[in-house]
Amino acid sequence: MLYLAPNINYNKMVIGIIKEPDFENRISLLPEGVAELKKLNVETWVEKGAGLKAFAADDQYEKAGAKIMTRAEILQKAEVLLMINTPEPDVVDSKKENQVILSVVNPFFNKEVVEKLAANSKTVFSLDLIPRTSRAQSMDILSSMATIAGYKSVLESAMLLPHFFPMFMSAAGTIRPAKLLILGAGVAGLQAIATARKLGAVVEVFDVRSAVKEEVASLGGKFIEVEGAREEKSAGGYAVEQTEEFIQKQKQLIHDHAVKSNVVICTAQIPGRKAPLLIEKATVEAMKAGSVVVDLAASTGGNCAVTQNGKTIVHQGVTIVGKSDYPSEMPSDASKMFGNNLLNFLKLLIEKEGNLKLDFEDDIVKNTCLTHEKQLVNERVKAFINA
Ligand code: NAI
Repeated sequence: MLYLAPNINYNKMVIGIIKEPDFENRISLLPEGVAELKKLNVETWVEKGAGLKAFAADDQYEKAGAKIMTRAEILQKAEVLLMINTPEPDVVDSKKENQVILSVVNPFFNKEVVEKLAANSKTVFSLDLIPRTSRAQSMDILSSMATIAGYKSVLESAMLLPHFFPMFMSAAGTIRPAKLLILGAGVAGLQAIATARKLGAVVEVFDVRSAVKEEVASLGGKFIEVEGAREEKSAGGYAVEQTEEFIQKQKQLIHDHAVKSNVVICTAQIPGRKAPLLIEKATVEAMKAGSVVVDLAASTGGNCAVTQNGKTIVHQGVTIVGKSDYPSEMPSDASKMFGNNLLNFLKLLIEKEGNLKLDFEDDIVKNTCLTHEKQLVNERVKAFINA
């Protein structure tokens, strides 16, 4: 089904790139991405100074073919708005009806914003809903950002740990390599294994999906497991919730390995759910003083009981890092990767002549669409909100 909305200028479409909130260093599209949009016959407007924290100046955007405009002009006139973070109130309330917004809304945890976006006739594509299928791989912003988080989490732990990562044999004696335990071997976890191994650490890995065993081994990690995990092919490469008996066995296994480790990197998640609690307070208290836990799942409750989102704390000699903004700490490559994913998705919405085309027969377009024609249309989000 092709959809053409009123109040949208389909023939001279303007795409607007707006500045992210103050806490964010990334931008949704770098100048190189604007040049790609020009090839697609699309006009791009960029909010003044929007790319500065990602080291992309206004004149670079102009050279790539963009116009530098005020935020108000962009919100009033652009047919399509690009951004990374959940739309801010001025975006949600902008007067342009049927405006198309591409953003990471995090809809499972932002019900109110979702309802307002629908009520204000915004057609929103929430890029965190892009399905994890082979065809959508080049658009998968969650994987790109998780790659950065996996890499940075290991570097951060190496800086905080009062030990070396690699083994050293020196005149001052032999230094044993650091031991890392990585919980969850999805995108962030696999990147964390690769980074830790390059730094010379010994790595153990736990995941409920046995399918990742070989990948873990090929990166040089040792897979530890509990028998009897529930796995579902229909979950599209994601984990599903486990039985109470399994959860108890897994907590014991993780406890036994965590207390022998110097670093624990937590990356376990089930999409749209609170993060599974894998490390109890008692486990942290039994860990060696000086050990480090980096909990990448902090923003969805954390895998560790003492994690505080957005904070680094020390609990009985163990440092627990709950940062949720690693991609923003690496704004150049994070913006490049995000922009490439975004462009690949945008290409599904733009015809040869540069016109907007929303084809809801396309499974990626359909499954990524959150709100349309004043309705919440995404089945996954609807099921979650109504549960
Ligand atoms: P993913 O879905 O690819 O991987 C998660 C892994 O956890 C899967 O392999 C899954 O099987 C495993 N898992 C689920 N339940 C488990 C359990 N009970 N025990 C052991 N393993 C379990 O997720 P991805 O993309 O790697 O993201 C990982 C985490 O990193 C997410 O929480 C995500 O929100 C977070 N993240 C954090 C960032 C930060 O700056 N802190 C930035 C980007 C992502």
